[in-house]
Amino acid sequence: MRKILNGNQMVLGTCYYPEHWPEHLWEEDLRRMLACGIKVIRIAEFAWSKIEPTEGEFTYTFFDKFLELAEKVGMQVIFCTPTATPPAWLTEKYPEVLNANIDGVLYRHGARRHYNYNSPIYREKTRIIVEKSASHYASHPAVIGWQIDNEINCEKDVFYSESDSAAFRVFLREKYETLEKLNRAWGTNFWNQTYTDWEEIHVPRTTYSDSTNPHEVLDYTRFISASARGYVKLQSDIVRKYIKPGDFITTNGLFGNLDNHKMREESLDFMTYDSYPNFAYTKEDYERFSRTMQDRMWSKNLMEVRSTSPVFGIMEQQSGANGWNTRMAAPTPKPGQMTLWTMQSVAHGADFISFFRWRTCTMGTEIYWHGILDYSGRDNRRLQEVKDIYKKFQSIQQIAGSRYMAQVAVLKDYDNIWDAQLDVWHQDVEKVSQQSLFIAAQKSHTPMDYVYMDDEKTSTSLSDYTVVFYPHPTILSPDRVRMLEEYVAQGGTLVLGCRSGYKDMTGQCVMDRLPGLLQNLTAVDIPEYTRTCPGDEPVLIRWEDDLLKAEVFTDQLAAQGGREKTSRILGMYENCYFTGTPALISNSYGEGRVYYYGSVFTEQAAETFLRKLGVKKPYKELLELPEGCELAVREKDGKQYFFVLNYKKEPVQIHVRRRMKNLYDGIDLQGWMQMEAYGTLVLEYNRNM
Ligand code: GAL
Repeated sequence: MRKILNGNQMVLGTCYYPEHWPEHLWEEDLRRMLACGIKVIRIAEFAWSKIEPTEGEFTYTFFDKFLELAEKVGMQVIFCTPTATPPAWLTEKYPEVLNANIDGVLYRHGARRHYNYNSPIYREKTRIIVEKSASHYASHPAVIGWQIDNEINCEKDVFYSESDSAAFRVFLREKYETLEKLNRAWGTNFWNQTYTDWEEIHVPRTTYSDSTNPHEVLDYTRFISASARGYVKLQSDIVRKYIKPGDFITTNGLFGNLDNHKMREESLDFMTYDSYPNFAYTKEDYERFSRTMQDRMWSKNLMEVRSTSPVFGIMEQQSGANGWNTRMAAPTPKPGQMTLWTMQSVAHGADFISFFRWRTCTMGTEIYWHGILDYSGRDNRRLQEVKDIYKKFQSIQQIAGSRYMAQVAVLKDYDNIWDAQLDVWHQDVEKVSQQSLFIAAQKSHTPMDYVYMDDEKTSTSLSDYTVVFYPHPTILSPDRVRMLEEYVAQGGTLVLGCRSGYKDMTGQCVMDRLPGLLQNLTAVDIPEYTRTCPGDEPVLIRWEDDLLKAEVFTDQLAAQGGREKTSRILGMYENCYFTGTPALISNSYGEGRVYYYGSVFTEQAAETFLRKLGVKKPYKELLELPEGCELAVREKDGKQYFFVLNYKKEPVQIHVRRRMKNLYDGIDLQGWMQMEAYGTLVLEYNRNM
């Protein structure tokens, strides 16, 4: 059985760097961790040179000694492959392993993640170090699992080395076979971009106004994702040969230009995430997040993690102030915030929480990225809070393995995410809708999931959801449309926003009536559309008693002729030159219904849909909470566990309408109660009682 994420246990861990500390501290550190309930540590992710100090010379004594100690004191270890930081001897001798900026200037030794995934030499050196480490350490009794590399695609998620151009050509040849097909897919007739030889193709290079062919960039992004996944698989295939039964393979974090879902399916037993909600209070990010929901925005990231692994782990959970010597300046978490952020992770499905890091580093770039302990290592308030978290964990052991429950989902897919990165029109609609749907759901205590579409998925992945939003599926394939049709036909409710279906998989626009492949399902026609401009009068949409303000974009709709039996116009534009034009059309299709809304989902529109479709506040009979609190629900064996999280720095009043058990103290409660500043609660509710 797995030692963590086994459905039976909630476990605490921390990140430890034996190579940063004098050996005489190791035992004391491990014993102190155990004394406060930390049972797992992660080690070695940046320590290549401790195993291969010079090329081809392997020595295992450093970590052998450490693992022996770990075993002696009873500490369990997640061992890492060290490939995020290649040694100086390697990059100096083989500069081709380095990543480069868009102009081909190499990123040199001295920071981290400076390698590229496609260099044949780096792949070979990776194969060797992973083989050596795994074959030596995986059988050690203290080792319980492996982390591959560290934060794949973090720091840089674009690659411009020579090896990347060479590999990009191979990727494109496999995909298109002929240059004719590639030229067509990339629309190279435009601006005379036609390729006549594969060697003329490169990863994107500096172009005037950064306007490289968008269809090419879309394929390039798919290529980066495939490269990163391939690199992780190369490693996990090796580690897999050596791990003991029950041991696991994971990696940490979700980053851009990477299909994290496919990576998880191909190579990892589950995903772990690095959760730093304190970014909301850093110098650079304060403005961005204070306008939204500050640290509560991290729940959006945790929803993403959950979509890759329903039960997951946190490899790095915030335990101190953030800061590098070069950037970021955030305060120390206030009393209660470490617990709040830990329980935020747990509420969304984490059964393993490992704090970053045990001691704060006294050297290098991360001297301000604080761990549990400060430089001196003395006992402090945050250590005390870890002890208290452990006590809480002991009281909630029974929730291990329970699943987050939601009846509303937002559909996503990587083609559209990547298209939106390079198409500012697409980006503008997507940004508003994604953020607003999340915030509307959060404020109204409506649990929500993300579900990722791909061509292999079937409609069963949606069948648990009553209502599914697919805000702006600009790019669509026939397979995805078939899946949506199936979901609706079987009784689901699908809500689509403006700009749906106007591109094909290459990112080119379709020469069809809009919404393209969705015409049949929606019974909608879109004869006209426009962006809204800052100086324009606000566009208003009337939907029964609700008057919605449309932002960013409007599709002016028409009901398709001949579909009157099933389709209904529900909303109209109230002003501008399209007064009286339909803005919302619903169509019943099989057992279900689809709504086409001609604009973006602002918070107001999102709230209106949740309310009118009857999925807003599903637990209002049980709990009444102020907007500033998050509600999350995990379920297991007929029992529901309600997580209430108060992100406010003031106490709040909540109303527990039905009798529930407060798991922290085992006492039943009902009625009004006060939650302290940054307070958390886990309430058990037995539906059958
Ligand atoms: C994470 C990373 C850690 C450490 C931490 C603080 O992104 O995995 O190694 O760098 O951030 O910066």
